Amino acid sequence: MKLVLLCSLAATAMATDLLLPLYQYPASTGGAWDPIKAALAANPSVTATIIINPNNGPGDANQGIDDPQYVAGTKALAALPNVRLIGYVHTSTDWGATRCNVPWSSITADIRKWSTWVDRGVPIGGIFIDEAPADTSNDCVNYMRNLTTFIRTDPALRFGGSNAFVVYNPGGTGPSLPAYYDLQPNLIVALETCFTVPERAGEDYDQCPRAGGYEPYDHAGPGRSIDDVLFPAAGAANAPRTAVLVHGFHDFNGAPANLSATPAVLDQLVAAVVQRRIGATFFNTAGYHTFEDGPASIGNFMGVLAAKNAA
Ligand SMILES: *[C@@H]1O[C@H](CO)[C@@H](O)[C@H](O)[C@H]1NC(C)=O
Ligand SMILES: *[C@@H]1O[C@H](CO)[C@@H](O)[C@H](O)[C@H]1NC(C)=O
Repeated sequence: MKLVLLCSLAATAMATDLLLPLYQYPASTGGAWDPIKAALAANPSVTATIIINPNNGPGDANQGIDDPQYVAGTKALAALPNVRLIGYVHTSTDWGATRCNVPWSSITADIRKWSTWVDRGVPIGGIFIDEAPADTSNDCVNYMRNLTTFIRTDPALRFGGSNAFVVYNPGGTGPSLPAYYDLQPNLIVALETCFTVPERAGEDYDQCPRAGGYEPYDHAGPGRSIDDVLFPAAGAANAPRTAVLVHGFHDFNGAPANLSATPAVLDQLVAAVVQRRIGATFFNTAGYHTFEDGPASIGNFMGVLAAKNAA
């Protein structure tokens, strides 16, 4: 009995969670998110952290906590036992070119606005900080330390105090990632990239940069983006505090492995992530606004993740 309990605790501790960037509008009184809800309900063993992002932040009078669609959609997701919601903010005023230049008063005002969602019955349990730094320019380490402390200790905020879930998204590796792990966020998205080489219908579909220049995920073979790109910068020991987000899972990923986006390859790539003890992941055929297209629909992907966690 005791042995079984220990094993199941160990399995839980080593599982790879879902980190879902949900930037889609919850139309139809939240009904646009029904496929996501169904996938979460069908895979209760997968713990999910869902990033709510109405409009590059907590939204305004039209999209946000005053929008009944958002209220219905977020409450329905939060009602699932395996779901935690976190709110989106970003540190950059120029789409990521300069990190940590959003003034303290604006970024903390957005975070306070997320806390008003909690007052209105939507349990936001933390903050996703996008366009986060991975180097130390612009006093970024202090900026991120201050933000993390603010989210977890400001007495007016209602994200659970020291339990507030904090995720940094530098979106890639950088020379100073270890300095950010030292600030004790729950997760750092130190690899966010596209699988495909031939993008589909422009950036809006799969959010793969048109100009290219990104790391086509696992083009050297399953697990190689983590081994060759992520771990040298983040440290393999930080795997459980690291998230890997892969969008644009369609067509093929180029030389040398040139894998095709098939269900069998999805299986291999997700297995490689779980085997490396990555804390959270997300694979999607599209970008962050469409979740039903195969082969990596939310339902298929969550099924594979649950199976690999159990293996
Ligand atoms: C961080 O907070 C300290 C103490 O309040 C303050 O002196 C410092 O200017 C802040 N740094 C940044 C980059 O926000
Ligand atoms: C990869 O495979 C596709 C077909 O699946 C092919 O059209 C393409 O030329 C290949 N590219 C490389 C770099 O091997």
